[in-house]
Amino acid sequence: MSELRFDNQTVVVTGAGGGLGKAYALFFASRGANVVVNDLGGSHSGEGKSSKAADVVVEEIRAAGGKAVANYDSVENGEAIIETAIKNFGRIDVLLNNAGILRDISFKNMKDSDWDLINRVHTYGAYKCARAAWPHFRKQKYGRVINTASAAGLFGSFGQANYSAAKLGQVGFTETLAKEGAKYNIIANVIAPIAASRMTATVMPPDVLENLKPDWVVPLVAALVHSSNTTETGGIYEVGGGHIAKLRWERAKGALLKTDESLTPGALAAKWNEVNDFSKPEYPTGPANFMGLLEDGLKLPSAPKAEEPDFKGRVALV
Ligand code: NAI
Repeated sequence: MSELRFDNQTVVVTGAGGGLGKAYALFFASRGANVVVNDLGGSHSGEGKSSKAADVVVEEIRAAGGKAVANYDSVENGEAIIETAIKNFGRIDVLLNNAGILRDISFKNMKDSDWDLINRVHTYGAYKCARAAWPHFRKQKYGRVINTASAAGLFGSFGQANYSAAKLGQVGFTETLAKEGAKYNIIANVIAPIAASRMTATVMPPDVLENLKPDWVVPLVAALVHSSNTTETGGIYEVGGGHIAKLRWERAKGALLKTDESLTPGALAAKWNEVNDFSKPEYPTGPANFMGLLEDGLKLPSAPKAEEPDFKGRVALV
């Protein structure tokens, strides 16, 4: 089997000075890509900055015969990061939104500054980088994006209300980019990784971390951003320790109540089992799925005919 190559492509990796980002940067450079190694070089809680983190990775890539340049901007300044790719390599093909920090604290004690900093780095930062890459992707009719969520976002996690909110945000963000990008061969997926890094070093024992090498997350990312992937987009993947699994939404059977004065809390209570009945689930992929349920229901003789839902049209347009 021939190996996946990325020759003549430019890959931007944010937060590539350590952990997962470093593993991505080393891999893509070893497979022929030009790599922009972005890292602000601050602490895991977002304090300070340094050019060292990115420089060390760039040196390692160059020493191995690869091509890389450093960028030290915060992801909040996404334009400068993408500009580094354009200036040095003339293009951008792949954006790995990976940079991240933690500000763990119980919700009772959370301050606006904890909330804001996490959202600035994870939400605004991923947006700024993707927004700056987007015109290039559209123009060249080619682009690949990986955004980084977390189990904390998918399921919640004690002491991480700020981080959970930002990380689940990456899911919706990715799914919209996938829909808007489809026409331009822009593929976007989101991963919830688990890997040994300075981020997990404080919360997991060393023997567990031994089995969570960042390198083991790389193959999924590489496969999703390779040009041979033209169909897997808008996907959510959990990945770590060699286990890779896709996630999707599941909707219970649900109850359809008549939309008149009989729609009371009591009427809902009578149908509560149906609301929660997962014995015949559906796997919705867009808002139109939900409207479809209503339309069927609205064919009841006493109900007025449903209008064509506006957002159904919008989904069809992208
Ligand atoms: P890490 O702390 O080793 O790496 C993150 C890198 O991002 C650091 O080198 C840091 O300097 C850089 N960075 C932080 N803020 C930045 C900014 N504003 N601009 C540019 N660079 C910045 O952490 P790790 O574990 O490699 O995390 C990578 C991503 O994976 C993060 O988004 C994290 O939230 C996510 N993640 C990691 C998990 C894990 O098990 N390691 C679990 C779930 C999610």
